[in-house]
Amino acid sequence: KVSMKKFLPLFAFWLLLACESPELTEAVSLDSLVPLPSRMDVPDDRGFTAVQGSVRFVGIPEDDFAEMEEWPQSADGLPIIWRKEEGDALSLQGYWLDISADSVVILAAGDAGVHAALSTLKQLVPTSHWPEKKGDPIRLGFAWPQVHIEDEPAFEYRGMHLDVCRHFMPIEFIEKYLDNLALHKFNRFHWHLTEDQGWRIEIKKYPKLTEVGAWRSASQTGAYSEQRFDSTRYGGFYTQEEARHIVDYARRRGITVIPEIEMPGHSLAALAAYPELSCTGGPIEVAHGWGVFDDVYCAGNPEVYTFLKGVLDVVMDIFPSPLIHIGGDECPKTRWESCSKCQLEMERNKLKDEHALQSHFITRMERYLNAHGRNIIGWDEILEGGLAPNAAVMSWRGTAGGIQAASMEHEVVMTPGKPLYFDHYQFNPGEEPVAIGGFNSLMDVYAFNPVAGVPAEYHRYILGAQANVWTEYMETSDHVEHMVQPRASALSEVLWLGGKRPGEDAAFRQAMDYHIQRLQAMGWKYAPYEFKKIATDEAQ
Ligand code: ACM
Ligand code: ZN
Repeated sequence: KVSMKKFLPLFAFWLLLACESPELTEAVSLDSLVPLPSRMDVPDDRGFTAVQGSVRFVGIPEDDFAEMEEWPQSADGLPIIWRKEEGDALSLQGYWLDISADSVVILAAGDAGVHAALSTLKQLVPTSHWPEKKGDPIRLGFAWPQVHIEDEPAFEYRGMHLDVCRHFMPIEFIEKYLDNLALHKFNRFHWHLTEDQGWRIEIKKYPKLTEVGAWRSASQTGAYSEQRFDSTRYGGFYTQEEARHIVDYARRRGITVIPEIEMPGHSLAALAAYPELSCTGGPIEVAHGWGVFDDVYCAGNPEVYTFLKGVLDVVMDIFPSPLIHIGGDECPKTRWESCSKCQLEMERNKLKDEHALQSHFITRMERYLNAHGRNIIGWDEILEGGLAPNAAVMSWRGTAGGIQAASMEHEVVMTPGKPLYFDHYQFNPGEEPVAIGGFNSLMDVYAFNPVAGVPAEYHRYILGAQANVWTEYMETSDHVEHMVQPRASALSEVLWLGGKRPGEDAAFRQAMDYHIQRLQAMGWKYAPYEFKKIATDEAQ
């Protein structure tokens, strides 16, 4: 038996196995874990632990750990023992995992660590034993390698974004996306819910947002340069109930959903529904094509602030995330320059230009969210004209904005276009489906360092990083899968291991050789190019 005292965790989670007959079929190599744990000790005399009987979790509130549903269980299964102990040996997101001859013990200081440990254990189940279909148990008759793992993430914020506005993604796919994030120990899902081309979240107080704003009468197709459009009505939205379901589904996998409500730009869909919130009064159409549009919320109309507060009340009620994303990017100042209401607002508040007006807009919204116990995060344009006092910054136009915000002691998430825009090409544009442009290969992502160029004294403001998945050119969820993987696997290791990544890229490539079986077992349509290239390189 493993001594619990030795570990001094806040909470202890035991997972006990019944090992009936030690007939092993196969075991997964520890080196194939993605992300690789930060420390693994395999004493010489350790062997393999057969998983032949039932496994039952006791002490972990099962409702809170969706992964549980898939583990082999039966009425006579041995219990997991859950104990609360004093001590601080484990970091908040860390865990220890000890697989010995007769037990598997997970020790964690909290839920985040348990989720991470379960992800490691799941990856150590051979994919041939993964559930046939979702909700089925893992099949018995495999072995776990005996090991002692002490693991914790390098970065607290490990995110993936998804734009469901340019193309709408069904709720079943959002679940699948979250399953993929959980497998890779990502803990933030940035859900981009409003745009020029569609408003995707039901707000009952403003029904036209989804009656009008969720639908466009045509969509751009093909390469941007072709300027081609179909004439099909297109759209969709999530009901409040569906959004709550996603929040809960994510929570049970250790993931916080950060909703994004764009303002003051990228808002044509909302303005099509309520044109009186624009500077001109409309009429305005939900956008058909991609780009940046001049019509934005009027910054001098009190109704705009009332409307956005009303929207944010609902958003805060659905999403418990401490951070609410308010967009803030790509807001042309054209309309504000010639709008008497906007100009009056500038005069009254002694604002020197339209950038200051944008800062004033964002700061007003920040004050409202802060008063309700939330913080705002916005794209790096919110630095222009003065950063709102408590805002976190998402740095997308390179990392300079992030470095600037960190040195102003603001929290930062790095999401630079290069290499973290997963809407860019990844192998050879000639062989890939049409994308927005740019190029970010698997190994470009693996080489990314979120704190590069950040003075050491400000590293603590870099919460982590995130890849963004803008869907202008991704009409289907299959295409999203293709753009996301295997690059998200590389990002997961960047964020989990940070500077402790193995120096040689070869180790990661080798891990991916097995890891693609896991992607396949999840039914994930990863981009095959890099693997083909490795096979070709090796054959030569
Ligand atoms: C962005 O890509 N406009 C944040
Ligand atoms: Zn105006």
